[in-house]
Amino acid sequence: MKFFLDTANVEQIRKINELGLLDGVTTNPSLIAKTGRPFPEVVREICKLVEGPVSLEVIGTETKKMVEEANKLVEYGKNVVVKIPITEEGLKAVKILANQGIRTNVTLCFSPLQALLAAKAGASYISPFVGRLDDCAHDGMELIQQIKQIYDNYAYATEIIVASIRHPLHIVQSAMIGAHIVTVPYEVFSKIASHPLTDKGIEIFLKDWAKVPT
Ligand code: G3P
Repeated sequence: MKFFLDTANVEQIRKINELGLLDGVTTNPSLIAKTGRPFPEVVREICKLVEGPVSLEVIGTETKKMVEEANKLVEYGKNVVVKIPITEEGLKAVKILANQGIRTNVTLCFSPLQALLAAKAGASYISPFVGRLDDCAHDGMELIQQIKQIYDNYAYATEIIVASIRHPLHIVQSAMIGAHIVTVPYEVFSKIASHPLTDKGIEIFLKDWAKVPT
């Protein structure tokens, strides 16, 4: 399973990149706004730091505007993937961009049918938001299961990016379902390698090792 970081914070990307396990980055307008920095500056730094795909979202809501923006966004780097919200206008843009050879990440997906349409339009990635569904008392991970089955049934090449992840269990469940990618917020990413029993175990081993005669 590929691990993406869901952030536009360059320092966070640098830290997680040091682990050597980072496969890509996803951003959105809210994450860019959170940095308080100009968009071109942040994006240039991210694209230089990250080897894998970097998702950048369009702001336009009409097909023509989305396609224009997408063609500008891909100039930031070869690894840029254009994030397009799933609307009818968005689907038309995805199809046009797929024909141009521009990779898209269809975002704000909340239903299996939206995911099916995105795959038919030629999306490279689909981003279902599990946490936001959980927030409304819907089972976000059930949506991942449904999309996985539909994509497997018809052998769609569109990869599932589990987005809006809130806790480590979302990652475990994504891996069990066989989702291709999880995009993880920094706060969650920095928690998942550790376990209190691992720390305790190291402490015990070091204490016992000190008793070994030299
Ligand atoms: O980047 C898209 C998605 O991961 C947003 O997550 O936490 O704002 O629901 P969240």
